[in-house]
Amino acid sequence: MRVVLLGPPGAGKGTQAKPLQEKYGICQVSTGDILRKAVREHAPLGKQAAEYLDRGELVPDDVMLKLVAERLQEKDCEKGFILDGFPRTVPQAEGLEQILRDLGSGLDFVLCIQLPQGVLIQRLSGRRTCKKCGGLYHILLNPPKREGLCDSCGGELYQRQDDREETIAARLRVFETQTAPLVDYYRMKGLLREINGVGSSEEIRSRVFQALGAEHDLS
Ligand code: AP5
Repeated sequence: MRVVLLGPPGAGKGTQAKPLQEKYGICQVSTGDILRKAVREHAPLGKQAAEYLDRGELVPDDVMLKLVAERLQEKDCEKGFILDGFPRTVPQAEGLEQILRDLGSGLDFVLCIQLPQGVLIQRLSGRRTCKKCGGLYHILLNPPKREGLCDSCGGELYQRQDDREETIAARLRVFETQTAPLVDYYRMKGLLREINGVGSSEEIRSRVFQALGAEHDLS
């Protein structure tokens, strides 16, 4: 199964990608995670991307398309994948179609998680991420059992640079202007499944499974 997870910053894409990955045995490709790792490791890609991430702007399309084209050719993507955070512009979506055509495949679904801006800001400003395994927490909505430490691996939790108030506002603006047009783009192609993102993680997870399972029993 090949799925795109679409939605504004803080919608819960990363949170929902995990259970999908586990249920269907497919890999999660989070472009945000790949970029942040490259920045941490001072890789050439990280040097190119750092200033865009800090400002909450999008990394140029040609850089992202090259990155995704290479990633999707790796062995762990053969059974399928969840694209989390890609595509984010119409040129990226068009480029993805070409990449998949070259690989002899196409997308099965595009899930768009939607929720009001006030909730997004609350989720982003309280998010904490595990340095070691990438586990996601929220200081109020989903706190770890031990403060500052990951429940799964004991790794240290940190606040992402781009989860500061001014950068959150910039990221939400970028979503509205550059990424939101993809909702209509994929609706026209008959791939879009809209998910109400208000509720607990478990509630959203069952909506996600329902949206996929109703037409595609892959369990
Ligand atoms: P990226 O890492 O993709 O960030 P994003 O799209 O802004 O999404 P987030 O990771 O912030 O949120 P999410 O929807 O995954 O929510 P989460 O599950 O964490 O991109 C970062 C940057 O990289 C971009 O700004 C850009 O610069 C660059 N970039 C990446 N891809 C690019 C591309 N394709 N092109 C160009 N540039 C690109 O949840 C958020 C919080 O809410 C967590 O604390 C979580 O615990 C909590 N939560 C989740 N669900 C629930 C729930 N149901 N109830 C309560 N709490 C919940």
